[in-house]
Amino acid sequence: MPRKGNIICCLIVFHFLFLISNFHFMHTSVTVSANSQRYIDLEEKFGAHNYHPLPVVLEKGEGVFLYDIDGKRYFDFLSGYSAVNQGHCHPKIIAALIEQAQKLTLTSRAFHSNLLGEYEQYITSYFGYDKVLPMNTGVEAVETAIKLARRWGYAVKGIEDQKAKIIVCAENFHGRTSTVISFSTDPSSYAKFGPYMPGFKVIPYNDLAALQDALKDKDVCGFLVEPIQGEAGVVVPDEGFLSKAKQYCKEANVLFIADEIQTGLCRTGKLLACDHENVHPDILILGKALSGGTMPVSAVLANDEIMLTIKPGEHGSTYGGNPLACHVAITALQVLKDEQMSERAEKLGQQLRKELAELNSPFISLIRGKGLLNAIVINHPNPDAAWELCLEMKELGLLAKPTHGDKIRLAPPLVITEQQVSESVEIVRKSLEILK
Ligand SMILES: Cc1ncc(COP(=O)(O)O)c(C=O)c1O
Repeated sequence: MPRKGNIICCLIVFHFLFLISNFHFMHTSVTVSANSQRYIDLEEKFGAHNYHPLPVVLEKGEGVFLYDIDGKRYFDFLSGYSAVNQGHCHPKIIAALIEQAQKLTLTSRAFHSNLLGEYEQYITSYFGYDKVLPMNTGVEAVETAIKLARRWGYAVKGIEDQKAKIIVCAENFHGRTSTVISFSTDPSSYAKFGPYMPGFKVIPYNDLAALQDALKDKDVCGFLVEPIQGEAGVVVPDEGFLSKAKQYCKEANVLFIADEIQTGLCRTGKLLACDHENVHPDILILGKALSGGTMPVSAVLANDEIMLTIKPGEHGSTYGGNPLACHVAITALQVLKDEQMSERAEKLGQQLRKELAELNSPFISLIRGKGLLNAIVINHPNPDAAWELCLEMKELGLLAKPTHGDKIRLAPPLVITEQQVSESVEIVRKSLEILK
């Protein structure tokens, strides 16, 4: 009996420690309330283990802020991987969502709706294309662009059936479907998930000579590129890379396909990152902030010569172009314009990089980015330093997530103010103290 008492005692102590978890990393002590731990445990027990989130449980978002279930406020420096450019729960976008949700949400494309044509007209004139093909998630739009480029390759360029190739870049991130991971160079994305889809040629990013060489292959129909590689750690190519790449593609009769899912919609200080070099992609892929973070809305834009190669019944999606998405996307795009979000991103991004540089931290080896898509590279002997820094920033009220080990993306909603940028940099400064 006394043994049973001891066991119960141990269990109570263990349970208590489990509830008020206090994980110690280096000098970081991460607090997770019992309430939060309950939700984290639920996800652990019943959800697939395909993510490794920071231990924070959020329940509310407003503008640049997120709030956890205990009411603690955080600056959001991830913005749903740039889906929330317009700020969390933007009142105009939420109003549009509610208004349309009470009227009509889905028709499927078996029928017309009173909003699809209006949205198609709006978005094509917004970006300067003949046509749009609406989808939902980002990766679906990438898949669509791949199909379109191949179709164009066969129908217009005259490539022999089954031979079409698409050039892609090393360290790319275009999503997680089987086709798209087939041309990933990150083993954690593709290894163990084969067989892979053929028809892709990988070249180094930002390498014009390699592109010119790859373009000699007459079976190439497209060059798929991120104007800035977001997931790779905000890798900005040399000035002139995009415009030269576009020119070489044109000369080789190859489609220049820009994946602006993360870089587009004002994030980098222009409407599109390609606008920094006055490049108009042949195929433009958008997602994420197209709905201001409310629902999955993506789009592929192109001119008739390309878009009309896909015929009825050859591509689609039940939810693509649904009335709810159309109404929300028009509003989300309008908000970007009305609130001059690209100008804000440009100005505040410069401030952010300047103030980060002024920290003069020996632990930051590089600060890079454009507009409000930025990253710092952490220089520390501990390979987990970036993760621990993010845990400490969480403690101090700022949420960010490392990518590729030593890089931390700093990409707040574009509604952030000058004062808030300075407050955030102060949090970064204080957090860096744990690395000493
Ligand atoms: C450049 C880029 N392309 C595609 C995707 C995939 O988008 P989704 O997760 O909505 O499928 C992402 C997502 O992070 C991205 O950053």
